[in-house]
Amino acid sequence: MIDEFDSERSLHDFVGHVHVEKIQHFYNEFYRRAKDSKAHSELCRKVYGQDFCQHGMLDMNQLDRLIEVSRLNKDTLVLELGSGTGLITEYISDMTQCRITGIDISVEAIEHASARTKDKRNRVVFETRNMENLDYPDGAFDAVISIDTLYFVKDLENTVRQMVKILKPKGSMYMFYHVDPDLEDCPGADPVRCSQLGAVLDRLSLSYRAIDFTAENNKHWELRKQVLSELKTQFEEEGNMYLYDSRMEECMSNMCDFYRFLYMVEQV
Ligand SMILES: C[S@@+](CC[C@H](N)C(=O)[O-])C[C@H]1O[C@@H](n2cnc3c(N)ncnc32)[C@H](O)[C@@H]1O
Repeated sequence: MIDEFDSERSLHDFVGHVHVEKIQHFYNEFYRRAKDSKAHSELCRKVYGQDFCQHGMLDMNQLDRLIEVSRLNKDTLVLELGSGTGLITEYISDMTQCRITGIDISVEAIEHASARTKDKRNRVVFETRNMENLDYPDGAFDAVISIDTLYFVKDLENTVRQMVKILKPKGSMYMFYHVDPDLEDCPGADPVRCSQLGAVLDRLSLSYRAIDFTAENNKHWELRKQVLSELKTQFEEEGNMYLYDSRMEECMSNMCDFYRFLYMVEQV
């Protein structure tokens, strides 16, 4: 006889598995198409400032700001969660010489990232991994970076706990995160603290500060919509309306009204 606890846990694991598989399936298809799409490269150059096959909201200004505030260097060991095809990861290491590991659930993205960076293996490594199971030794990293990825985890508090566990004493976390003004539990209050991430950091007694990129976020969505419209024929000619549609669909959501912050937890 299966006892109640075990059957409940199995169901929970099963639902979790399906959720991860769906995300993985979407991103494998997205990265497979995007890596050979001239229209998508052009979209990234025009919207983000450089083609790093981005799939979030991080432009070059925000990326350079991250590099400036994090003060990474050749002695820093960094983990980046949800690194996609790793061009952002590689740029961070090229600029700072830090030793960085990028992980992503998409096999397609990680294979591409690993092949491209084989000459930099002494400082840039990629692994296919689920960021909900960070089974690294305690204290393995000086910094953990997440760029538009924490929305995908089922249990944010559990993931943040794991991030803390794998950090060395005085390690740091840098997380780009957007906040839906309509979903806040405390309307009218400080969106940095009231977001799900802010609430988790408070519950875990982690002190943090945040840089506000809300104005840039609003402009990002306008620009993305405009550039996509300009490139529609090119996406069509490539047979890549899958890319066009999925990227345009995001513009039609209410994300242009979201707050956007870089949360920085320093000296954990
Ligand atoms: C919105 S994209 C951001 C990618 C990249 N950081 C950027 O800014 O362009 C989210 C990324 O997280 C990855 N991802 C989603 N769920 C994940 C999980 N559970 N574990 C690891 N990576 C995950 C996706 O495959 C995708 O590459």
